[in-house]
Parts: sequence; structure tokens; C-alpha cells
Amino acid sequence: MSALAGQVALVTGAGRGIGRAVARALAAEGATVVLAARTRSELAAAAEEIRGAGAQAFAVPTDVTQDRAVGALVDEAVGRFERLDVLVNAAGTASFGTFAESKADDWDGMLAVNLRATMVTCRAVLPVMLRQGRGTIVNVASIAATRPIPGAAVYAATKAGVLTFSRVLAEEVRPAVRVGVVVPGAVDTPLWDTVPGGPDRARMLRPADVARAVVLMAALPSGAALEEVRLLPAGGIL
Ligand SMILES: NC(=O)c1ccc[n+]([C@@H]2O[C@H](COP(=O)([O-])OP(=O)(O)OC[C@H]3O[C@@H](n4cnc5c(N)ncnc54)[C@H](OP(=O)(O)O)[C@@H]3O)[C@@H](O)[C@H]2O)c1
Repeated sequence: MSALAGQVALVTGAGRGIGRAVARALAAEGATVVLAARTRSELAAAAEEIRGAGAQAFAVPTDVTQDRAVGALVDEAVGRFERLDVLVNAAGTASFGTFAESKADDWDGMLAVNLRATMVTCRAVLPVMLRQGRGTIVNVASIAATRPIPGAAVYAATKAGVLTFSRVLAEEVRPAVRVGVVVPGAVDTPLWDTVPGGPDRARMLRPADVARAVVLMAALPSGAALEEVRLLPAGGIL
């Protein structure tokens, strides 16, 4: 039987990139997936692709920086499927450049999506998972959280926040809820489309590589918790 048969997974950032690959991979393991992001067309295409492969997918356009929208998203998922087994926080945004030339608006955008919305979404699902006595949360950090990359000061700070937040939350809610964090190196996604002079995309990880790690974290037997996965391109950090 598929590893996640009968389970319900909510994936933010599921319209493209890593989130989309994660949603596809969880569905391939038998999960019913609820997909969230802002861009309706991308979300619809992602859900359609999953349904085309024979799994259940349900798109809920959501801006995760809006607390009430996140609450409505979780209510909708639980109302429809009566449970929530897996949450993957893959919604994220990045703005690179030297800190001296950075703009506070860009800081606010990254803090709001990468860090605050991860917290808000975790808090929204926890009552459900704790009531069930089971659940797995996987937050997506970045290697930038652990290694100083010039030009990524604020992005790195948000991801260091995600990493530490995830570690503390894991202590608070174990053993009923497993909290894990994936720490990827560069992944070839649309996030890099607007980054001039970025690393060689051919040498990056693929979104499906990150998705495999997330599926492993979600599909382990309930007695085991894979809490941190540092996943790098085989050639090393780019
Ligand atoms: N690509 C990399 O090299 C890399 C490496 C390590 C970690 N990461 C992290 O992995 C995560 C996914 O990145 P990615 O590379 O897949 O980026 P991406 O291709 O740009 O996808 C980002 C996703 O997040 C969604 N999103 C952004 N703001 C949102 C909001 N306010 N509300 C709801 N959804 C929102 C986007 O949809 P909408 O814009 O339509 O809302 C999109 O679906 C991010 O947290 C990123 O920091 C990426």
C-alpha cells in the first residue's frame, strides 16, 4: 500500500517550485493534498496535474500573510476531509542584494512570508493535529540559515528563524506531532528567474529531490521522527 494512503496533506507554496513538487510527491504516495498559494492559475494547474495522475487534489487560493485566510484554509481542509495529517510550509520569497542597499519593504515581505506565515500556519494546524494525536509538520528553511552567503542577510535571517522555530516547536509538541525542517541548498525553481548572475542552475538540486526528503519525513513510522534534513547539490553548496 502507498505510504500515505488515507492521509490528508496541506502544502503552502504549492503553485510552483518546491511546493508543487512536494504536493505531487505526497499525492503519489496516496495522500489527498490541499494546495495553497496566491496565483490561481498556477494552483489550478498544479491541482489538475495531480488529479490527472489519479490522486485527490484541492486548490485553495490563499495569501499566507493574511492570518484569517490561513485560518479559513485550515478550516476548509478539515471541514472537507475531516483530518489533517501533514503540513508542509513551502511558501517563500527571496530578495537578494547587499544589505546596505536593501529596502525595508523587502525585509518585511520576506519576514512575513518566510517566517511569520510559517508560524501562523503551524499554529493553525496544531489544534487539529494535537486533537488527532498525530501529525507531521515540515518547514522549508535554507542552507542560507547555516552559512553566511553575502547578499542574503535578511533572507538568511528569516530562514535561521524557521530553523530555530522548528526545533523549539518540535520539543513542545512531541510525540503527538512531529516537526521537521528541511535545509536545502540551491534548487532550480522559478525563484531564481529574477536573480541576475545567480548560481549555475544545471548544478542545482531539482524540486523533486526536496520532495523526496519531505515524503520520507512524512512517511516514516510514527515512532520515528526525521527532524532535520540538510540536502545539498551533490557538487556541494553553490
Ligand atoms: N529555490 C531554492 O534554491 C531554495 C533553496 C532553499 C530553500 N528554498 C525555499 O523553498 C521554498 C519554496 O521556494 P521555491 O524555490 O519553490 O520558490 P518559488 O518557485 O518562487 O515558489 C514559491 C511559492 O510560494 C508561494 N508564495 C509566495 N508568497 C506567498 C504568499 N504570500 N501566500 C501564499 N503563497 C505564497 C508562491 O505562489 P504565489 O506567488 O502565487 O503566492 C509559490 O507557489 C521557499 O521558502 C524558499 O525560500 C528555496
